[in-house]
Amino acid sequence: MAHLFSPVTLGAYTLSHRVVLAPMTRLRTIQPGDIPSPMMADFYGQRASEGGLEIIEGVSISIVGRSYYGAASFFDDSQTAGWKTIAEAIHAKGGRVFMQLIHGGRQSHVEMTGGVAPVAPSVMPFEGVAVTKDGFVPASPHRALDIEEIPGIVEEFRVAAQRAKDAGFDGVELHGANGYLVDQFIQDGTNQRTDRYGGSVENRVRFLRETVEALISVWGADRVGVRISPSGEWGGISDSDPEATFTHVAKVLNEYGIAYLHVIEPRVKGDDTLHEGHAPVAVKYVRPSFKGPIIAAGGFDGDSAEAIIASGDADLVAFARHFTSNPDLPYRLKHKLPLAPYVRAAFWGGTEKHYSDFPAYDTAKSA
Ligand SMILES: Cc1cc2nc3c(=O)[nH]c(=O)nc-3n(C[C@H](O)[C@H](O)[C@H](O)COP(=O)(O)O)c2cc1C
Repeated sequence: MAHLFSPVTLGAYTLSHRVVLAPMTRLRTIQPGDIPSPMMADFYGQRASEGGLEIIEGVSISIVGRSYYGAASFFDDSQTAGWKTIAEAIHAKGGRVFMQLIHGGRQSHVEMTGGVAPVAPSVMPFEGVAVTKDGFVPASPHRALDIEEIPGIVEEFRVAAQRAKDAGFDGVELHGANGYLVDQFIQDGTNQRTDRYGGSVENRVRFLRETVEALISVWGADRVGVRISPSGEWGGISDSDPEATFTHVAKVLNEYGIAYLHVIEPRVKGDDTLHEGHAPVAVKYVRPSFKGPIIAAGGFDGDSAEAIIASGDADLVAFARHFTSNPDLPYRLKHKLPLAPYVRAAFWGGTEKHYSDFPAYDTAKSA
C-alpha cells in the first residue's frame, strides 16, 4: 500500500517520498529588481531532500502580474543567476524543483504594477490587499482586460516557463489557485465577461487551457503541474457552483496528461482557524475526474497526510507552514520526531531570522 515514504512517479520524475514543499511567498527578494537572494537559496537548499519535491513560491511573470513588494518574479535577465543558484542548491541534495508561475491579476497595487491599473477578467467590487514597501495596503482599482490583450499574457507565461527551464528547474506549476488571475478567470464571482473567455464554464476555463498549453509547449505535459483551490476564499474569490466548475477543470486538465494536479484542501484559513462547512475537495470533485497524481495541501500533519494517501484520495501531500520551521520535515515525519513551531510574524518579509535559521532536528538536539 502507498504511504508517505513509498516512491511515487510524478510525470517525468520518480520521487523517493511524498512530502512536498508547498509554494510559499516569503517576500525576501533583493530590491529593486526582485533579485532572488542568497537567503532564499539557503532556505530552499535546507529543505531539499534526496528524491523529494519542492515547489518554489509564486513567481510573477510580468511587472503587471506582481502583487507583493519583495515577492519573486522572473521576467528579466538580471534575475537568472539567482534562480540558477536556487535550482543548484536543491539539485545538490538530490531534490527536484518546480517553479510556481503566477499573475496576480486584480490582487495588486499601482506601486507594484509599474503605475498602471491591475488587470482582471472583469471589474467587480474587491476589497483585497497587496503589499507595497509600506506593507499590506488595499488593492488598487482594477480594469477589465481587452480580449486582444489576453494572448500577450499567455505569451508572458510561456516566456517565464522558458526562463525557468533555462535556469535549470525541473518543471513549472501554474498558480491557478487563491484568487489570482487564472482563478479569476475560472470562477464566476470574478469573471462576468460576455466574450469567449466568460459565461459558460468552458469559456471561463479557456484562459487556463491556453496558459497550460503554453507551459506544455516549453516543458512537455509531464513537467507541468497546476494548483487549484476550489474552496478558497483568499482574494475575494467565489463561484456560484464550485463543484461543477472544478469538476470541469479537473477533466480538462486530465485531457492534457499533466504531471500532477495540486489541490488545496479547505481545511484551514490563513489565520490557523478551522474552515468549517466544506467537504474535502480532493474526494468530492477531483479524484473521480483527474486520473494522474494528486498533491493535496492544507492543514496536514504527519498522521493526516498518511491517512489521505492510504485512502487513495491523494498521492502526495504538500506542507507549507510546518516546513517553514522544520527544514528537515520529511526526516522528522518519517521518524515521528517533534516539530518546531512556526513563527507567523516572520512569514512575510524580514531577514534570515525565523526564515533560514531553523536548525535540523539532530543539530537542534545536540546544541
Ligand atoms: C507564508 C505563506 C505564503 C504562501 N504563499 C503561497 C504561494 O506563493 N503560492 C501558493 O499557491 N500558496 C501559497 N501559500 C499557501 C500554502 O502553499 C498552503 O496551501 C497553505 O499554507 C496551507 O498549507 P499548510 O497548512 O501546510 O500551511 C502560502 C502560505 C503561507 C503560510
